[in-house]
This record gives sequence, structure tokens and C-alpha cells, in this order.
Amino acid sequence: MSQLSFADLLQRRLVFTVGKGGVGRTTVTLGIALEAARRGQRVLVVELEGARGLEMALAAQREQVHPPAWLDRIEYMMIDGRRALEEYLGLIIPVRRLLKTVFSSNVYQYFVAAAPGLKELMAIGKLWYEAEQRNPEDAAGASGAHQLVLVDGPATGHSLQYLRMPQAALEAFPTGLVHREAERVVGLLRDPEATGVVVTTLAEEMPANETFEMVRGLDALGMHTAMLVVNQVHHAPCTRAELDGLPVAAPRPLAVVPATRARSARTPANPEVLLSEIVARAHEEIGWAEINASHVQRLAAQINAPLVELPYLFNEEFGPDEVCRLGRTLAEQLDAVPPTAPRPRGGRK
Ligand SMILES: Nc1ncnc2c1ncn2[C@@H]1O[C@H](COP(=O)(O)OP(=O)(O)OP(=O)(O)O)[C@@H](O)[C@H]1O
Ligand SMILES: [Mg+2]
Repeated sequence: MSQLSFADLLQRRLVFTVGKGGVGRTTVTLGIALEAARRGQRVLVVELEGARGLEMALAAQREQVHPPAWLDRIEYMMIDGRRALEEYLGLIIPVRRLLKTVFSSNVYQYFVAAAPGLKELMAIGKLWYEAEQRNPEDAAGASGAHQLVLVDGPATGHSLQYLRMPQAALEAFPTGLVHREAERVVGLLRDPEATGVVVTTLAEEMPANETFEMVRGLDALGMHTAMLVVNQVHHAPCTRAELDGLPVAAPRPLAVVPATRARSARTPANPEVLLSEIVARAHEEIGWAEINASHVQRLAAQINAPLVELPYLFNEEFGPDEVCRLGRTLAEQLDAVPPTAPRPRGGRK
């Protein structure tokens, strides 16, 4: 398995986070951005049309009572394919009046609405442009340029749709302007030194299956899975034998609830009830830890990329501190692997 330090990841021009809906793509993207900024890097974080999660999560960071100064190194952009197309047309048709006529024509409106994949193609083109604008030397930001573009991609299928478009354009237009532009974008996406995909998942049946599908899709596009992030991993707080030794009645059977479970509304009335609640929760947590461990093993066996496990954080509220903490954990785990040793399985920092 190839090794990748956090600094290696930050050397890329473009890092694209993908994964099933709700697994933590936004958290991972922003966590990486926060840690990169804390280490002195200027980053541009991007989300694609229709999503607002990243913008909100970044706003929550900025609205803290004492936001860290290095938050200023993170710039946000929402990329809308239609706007990107208009920007692009503005570059190739510099006559303003002509451009206005094009934009207001029915043919243009129809074309933009109906052309399959056009908006996705333009959005990826804009990403390419932003990645090319980076200035790797300018940590101080004198030029205002970012050093890395981090994209909070949409859920699996839609991300593949975006990433596939430049290749499709390349095949559809064997020569000419579109071909040349698409060739440059495909070149960036396929260059493992320039572009890295961070595949994010939960260690559960459905997300793991979707992850295999995603990695196969990336392979088919000739793209590099830079790392696999397994989010919300539960760890057993103790053994079943230890629980069995406690003087409590057998725990009530529990329905297995999703990882984003609601908090129990029951209030234990006395210490015995409290203890039995704790034991029940511990059994539940052991159950989740076992499920997670088996899927982590499956993922590690089938996906040839460095694997990072982020813990499930049991906090009343999941906010700016938690995102920051997970970003730091991700970086520390990548950096903890000595260059020649295989990565230990299941270890948490
Ligand atoms: N490690 C974690 N521990 C506990 N909760 C977490 C963790 N990571 C994420 N979450 C919870 O999961 C929620 C969803 O995370 P996030 O918004 O990053 O997912 P997403 O993949 O971007 O979702 P969407 O598909 O809606 O864009 C967060 O708001 C948070 O409540
Ligand atoms: Mg999101």
C-alpha cells in the first residue's frame, strides 16, 4: 500500500472528497482545510451548485467567539455550472454586446437547459481553472492565491457524473477547442501528483458497498484514490466479559439504531437503573464496534489506498470544534505511519 503523509496530500493542486450522502464528506473536506490552514497553507474550499453544507459549516467556524486567525487562509467558492459557462464564454467572446445577445437568446437558454452534462462539464472546467491559478510558493498569501483547491463533492453517483464529463467531451469532440480544453482537464484529473480523491465512508454495509462502486468508477476514469476515510468509527469501551461481571440484571434487548442515533429520552430514576442503562449502552457500543471493525477490514482488504479511521464523536452538538478535531486526527493518522511499515489496522490516536 502506498504511503501518504498529510503534507503529501497538501502538495496536490486539487483534492476531491467523495462518498455516499451523509457519511461526512463536508466534515472531512473542512477538517482537511482547517488543518491545512493551521499548518500555514492557503486553501480554496469549493462546493458545487445546490449544496450549502460547506458554506454553513465554514460560517459556523467563523462565528465562534474566538475564531483562530488562520481561518483567514480559507477561501470559499460555490461553483455553478451555468455561471461557469457564462464566465468561459466571456473569455472566448470578448465583445460584451455580442455576449449579451447570446445569453438572452432562446437558443442559448434551451441549449444550456437541455445539453446533457454541460453544466457538470463547465463546473469541472472551472475547478481546473482554479487549480491552475494556485500559487504553491505563496504561503503568506501576498498574491492572494490559494495553494490547494479542496472540493466537497456531491454524493457518489453525482460526483462520478461530474468527473466523467471531461472524458465524455474528449470522446465526443475528436478535435477542436472543446477537445483541447477537455484534454487539459482530463490531464489534471488523471495526474496522481496533481489530483487526489478522498473517498469517505462509514464502516457499514451500504456505505461500504457504495465505496467499492465509487473506487471502481474512479479506476475506470483513470483517477487516483489518494486515501480512504472511514468516519464515525465506534470503539468498544470494554469487553463483554467485563460487562457480564457487573451486578446488574441482563440488559434489555436493544434495536440497533443508526450511528446518528437520537439520545435516549429516558431518565434513570435510581443508581441501579442508571447502571443498567450504562451497561445496555456499552453492549450497544460493543455491537457497533464489531460491525465497524468487520467493515473496516473488508474495506482495507479491497481498496489499495491509505486508510484513516475517524472516531464517532459523542457530543451533545457537532460543531466547529469537532470538525477541527477530526481534521487534526486525520492528519495525525496519516503522519503516524512510518514510510516503510504497513499501517496498523484499527488503531486510534
Ligand atoms: N465523526 C463523527 N462523529 C459524530 N458525528 C459525526 C461525525 N462526522 C459527521 N458527523 C455527523 O454527521 C453529520 C453529517 O456530516 P456531513 O455534513 O459532513 O456529511 P455529508 O456527507 O457532507 O452529508 P450530505 O450528503 O448531506 O452533504 C454531521 O452534521 C454530524 O452531525
Ligand atoms: Mg455535505
